[in-house]
Amino acid sequence: TGMTTLDPGFGNTASCSSKITYIDGAAGILRYRGYSIEDLAVNSNFLEVAYLVIYGELPEPAQLKEFSDKLRDNADIPAEMSAFIDAMPRNGHPMSLMASAVNTLAAYYDDSVDPSDDAQVELATIRLMAKLPTIAARIYRNSIGEAPIGPDDSLGYVDNFIRMTFGDNAASGELGDLFSKAVDMLLILHADHELNCSTATVRVVGSSQADIFASVASGINALSGPSHGGANQAVLEMLEEIRDSGISIDDFLERVKAREVRLMGFGHRVYKNFDPRSKEIKVLASQILDRDENPDELFELALKLEAAALEDSYFTERKLYPNVDFYTGVIYRTMGFPTNMFTVLFAIGRLPGWVAHYREQLHDPAFRIARPRQHYIGSGERRYPGQG
Ligand code: CMC
Repeated sequence: TGMTTLDPGFGNTASCSSKITYIDGAAGILRYRGYSIEDLAVNSNFLEVAYLVIYGELPEPAQLKEFSDKLRDNADIPAEMSAFIDAMPRNGHPMSLMASAVNTLAAYYDDSVDPSDDAQVELATIRLMAKLPTIAARIYRNSIGEAPIGPDDSLGYVDNFIRMTFGDNAASGELGDLFSKAVDMLLILHADHELNCSTATVRVVGSSQADIFASVASGINALSGPSHGGANQAVLEMLEEIRDSGISIDDFLERVKAREVRLMGFGHRVYKNFDPRSKEIKVLASQILDRDENPDELFELALKLEAAALEDSYFTERKLYPNVDFYTGVIYRTMGFPTNMFTVLFAIGRLPGWVAHYREQLHDPAFRIARPRQHYIGSGERRYPGQG
C-alpha cells in the first residue's frame, strides 16, 4: 500500500551510510575500515582493532597505550553493581544477566549518558569497553559458585579477562599463550559486521537519543537469540545431541531437510559463497584441537557434518555455508568455557562495533529516528457491537 516497499527482515533495505565495515557477500570479503580481517587477524590484536573500529584509524603506539591505560583504570565495577550482579539468579543465562548489568551502567554513571555531548559519549565508550569483561567474568564465577576475581592491571585486555574468568585454573605456559592468542583472534573476527541484528538494534535504540548503555544492553539482548550470536551455543548443543543420540550424520541432515531442525552455524543473510571468518576460525580450531593424538570428538563430528552438508544439494542450492559460529564453540569448550558463556564471548568481541555504530550515527548528517513503515493487513473499519 502507498509508497512503501515490503521488505521482511530488511533484506534489501539500507538504513544508513557507514564508513566502518565493508562486506562483499558474494566474494566473501570482510574489511574493518578498509583492512581485511585476514590481515588484522594475523598482524594486529584485539585492542588495536577495537581502536580502529571505534575511532577509524589504527592507533599510533602512544594512542594505543593511552587507550589501554584508560581501560585498565576503568576496569573495576562499582561495589553496588557487584552486589547487584551477585543478587541475580546464579544459574540464569549469562546473556540475560549481562544485559541487565550493562543496562544499569547508566544508573551508576549518569555523567556519561548525554548523546549530544561527545566527551560523555567518549567516557561511556571507555567505561563499556573496560567493564564488560569484568561483568562477564563475575557472572561466570558466580555461576560456578567460585569467588569473583577482580581485574589485574598488570595484564593485557584479553589475559585479564582470562584471569578473571579462570583464575589459577587458567592454562599456563605454551598452552596458556596459545589460548590467549586464540581468544584475541576470535574477538578480532567478531569486532564488527555492519548492520547485523544486534548492531541494527543498537542503532535503532540510539536513534531515539537513548544513551549508549541502554543501546548496547539492547544489542546484547538481540545477540542472545539462536539465529544470531546464540548460534555458537546452539551449534555445540547440536553436536552434543548428535553424539549422545547416536543419530548418523546423514539421518540428521535428513531431519534438517525435513525442516524439523536447522543446521546451526550454517547459512548467512549476506555471505552466499563462504564466510571469511569461518575459514579463519576453522584453521584456528585445527591448530588448537589437533595438537595431540586424541582427536576432539566434537570437532571431528563438526568436520564431518560440514563436509556432508557441503556435498548435499539442499545446502548448495540455497548457498548455505558454515558461518562464524560453526567452529567457535568447539574452541571455547576446549579452553574450558561452559556452553552458556559462548555468546558472552561474542558480545565482548562485538562491543567495539556496537559502540562505533552508535557514535557514527550521532554524527550522521542524515540522522533521524528509526521508524520503519508497515503494510497493514488487518480488518477494515468495524463498529463496536451494540452501537446500532
Ligand atoms: N539450516 C537449514 N536450512 C536453512 C538454514 C539452516 N541453518 N539457513 C537457511 N536455511 C534455508 C531456509 O529454510 C530457506 O530455505 P527455503 O528457501 O527452502 O525456505 C533458505 O535456506 C533461506 O533461508 P532464510 O531463512 O531466508 O535465510 P535468512 O537470511 O533469513 O537467515 C540465518 C539467515 C543466519 C538466520 C539462517 O541461515 C539460520 O537460521 N542459520 C542458523 C543459525 C545460525 O547459524 N546463525 C548465525 C548467523 S552468523 C553470525 C551471527 O549472527 O551470529
